[in-house]
Parts: sequence; C-alpha cells; structure tokens
Amino acid sequence: MSAIIRPIEQNDIDICGKIGYEAHKTISSSHGYPSEQPSEEFGIDLIRRLLGNPNSWGILAERQGKTLGSVFLHKFPPSPVAVIGPLTVHPSAEGRGVGRMLMDAVLSQARKQNNDQIRLVQSPSHIRSFVLYTKSGFTLREPLFLMQGQPLKDRINTSSDDVHMLHNDRDVSRCNDLCKLTYGFSREMELQRAKDQGVAALIEREGIITGYAAGIGILGHAVAKSNEDLKALIANASVIPGPGFFVPARNHEIINWLLENGFQIGWPANLMTIGPYQEPLIPFLPSLAY
Ligand SMILES: CC(C)(COP(=O)(O)OP(=O)(O)OC[C@H]1O[C@@H](n2cnc3c(N)ncnc32)[C@H](O)[C@@H]1OP(=O)(O)O)[C@@H](O)C(=O)NCCC(=O)NCCS
Repeated sequence: MSAIIRPIEQNDIDICGKIGYEAHKTISSSHGYPSEQPSEEFGIDLIRRLLGNPNSWGILAERQGKTLGSVFLHKFPPSPVAVIGPLTVHPSAEGRGVGRMLMDAVLSQARKQNNDQIRLVQSPSHIRSFVLYTKSGFTLREPLFLMQGQPLKDRINTSSDDVHMLHNDRDVSRCNDLCKLTYGFSREMELQRAKDQGVAALIEREGIITGYAAGIGILGHAVAKSNEDLKALIANASVIPGPGFFVPARNHEIINWLLENGFQIGWPANLMTIGPYQEPLIPFLPSLAY
C-alpha cells in the first residue's frame, strides 16, 4: 500500500491517539491480556505528551488524507541510544506494509542522528510486531514480564537501612558511574529526572554505591550488584507509577519473590536492539524504553 509519511502535527493528536487505542485493544483482546492503552483518552494523552517532548519525534502514515498509523523516536541525551515506540497501525490497514514504512522512516532518522544503538520494548508479545522488528534488524536481547502489584514499602521486612533517596548532583553522578559500568553509557537525564520527582533511590554499602533505581515503575529503570540489593530498592518504593514495572524473565529469584509478595504478571514483552549491546552482568530492571 502506498502512503505518505510526514511529521505528526497538533491536529493529528486525536486521530493518532484513537488509532493507538484501537490497535492495542484489538491485539491485547486476541491474546487475553489487558490493553497497554486502556482507553481512548489514554492513547490521545500519550500522543499529546510525546509531541510536547523536545526529545521525541513523531511521524504518521496517511493515504488520501486518511491517517493509518504512527510511530515515535526518542532521544535521552547524553545516552547514545535512540528508542522507538509506540508504533501503531489501525487494524483495518494491518498487514499492508504500513508498519514497515513507519519503521524504515524512524530507523533512517535515527541513523541520520548518528544513533548507532537503537532499542525498543516490544510489548505485549505480538507475533506481527516481533516479525516486523526482526525483519527491520532488531535482535531479541531480554524477554521481560510486566509485574503488577501494590508497593511493598511498609508491607515487608527487607534490609533496606542502606537505601537512601538521591538528594543532589553528586548522588546522580555516582549512580551514573554504576550505570556506565553496567550499560556502557550514561543515563544521567533519566536519573536527574527521577531525582527531581523524588523517586530515585540508591544503596550505599561501606561508601560504595551497590545499586540504584531511577524510580520503580514503567518509566523507571534500576541496576544492583545483587538481587538482595534489587529487592531492597523495589521494597523501598512507595509508589509504582503506571501499570507496573518490567523484570527480565530470566531473573527467577526476583520474579518468584514478587509473586510470593502478591504481585501478578501483567503481560510479556521483549527488549530488542540494533547495534552494539552491552548485556548487563548484574541484576537490572529495564524501563518501557530500554
Ligand atoms: C505491529 C503493527 C504496527 C504492524 O503493522 P503492519 O502494518 O501490520 O505491519 P507490516 O504489514 O508492515 O509488517 C508485518 C510483517 O509481519 C509479517 N508477519 C505477520 N505475521 C507473521 C507470522 N506469523 N509469521 C511470519 N511473518 C508474519 C508480515 O508478512 C509482514 O512482513 P512483510 O512486510 O515482509 O510482508 C500493527 O499490527 C499494530 O499496530 N499492532 C498493535 C499495536 C502493537 O502491537 N504495536 C507494537 C507494540 S511493540
């Protein structure tokens, strides 16, 4: 199907949001999962927020004036990573190459920006998007589960005396050092934002940072030198914004611990990448982005 690809403008927000809602509703109901975009308002608000973010770039596909789907590309400076999502195509236009056209356009923009590391979280597990991403060059790195439940703070006992909130730029910088060791690049902007929102926490043992969480939630991420430290960070969170948080499916200890503490699995997802990828060698929680 031929289509025009162009940047999303203010008056495209409603239609792109509605398509996002419809696309997710259709796929999640066929899998029996709750929808990632639970209402039309959610879908519209998501597009509005992304369009207002200077680090996000959104495009849509249209044919004869009819919008067919959209996608966003995000930067997290100074991180060298570019992130793709959400990608949605109206169910009536599915299977006609629109998803591929949108992917080709964002990948070419990422390369124009010299982002050699491109990532996404494919969610929920959906064969069509998995095929599309694989054919576009993405490699599956980490199967994930979205864990859903109430914050554990004050509900369970953990050795969390060493957990502290991030207070200043020095805390951000020290956590970012652990981040760089783990991921191979800085996630300073996300750490700074989480600190400003009062949701960033670190663990310090004998003067050494052994873990941090830039929030426990769908937009947060965390790393820790042990699962004990990761549990302490999770247990310290008094809020879990969004529908839950992602845990690598391979981390049996954390998944099992969360299940024992009343959490449920919401839906599966996959962290996928193009370009260099330094696999974290210590426990970690990815964000919805990467
Ligand atoms: C995922 C989505 C964007 C794909 O859009 P689309 O326009 O249907 O995608 P395309 O037709 O361009 O590409 C799909 C590819 O998968 C292939 N495909 C689909 N099911 C397949 C299967 N079971 N086995 C092998 N190939 C398959 C198609 O043949 C096509 O490949 P081709 O381009 O080589 O022919 C759309 O289905 C959607 O919006 N889904 C709901 C929201 C969603 O899940 N978004 C992604 C979240 S990570």
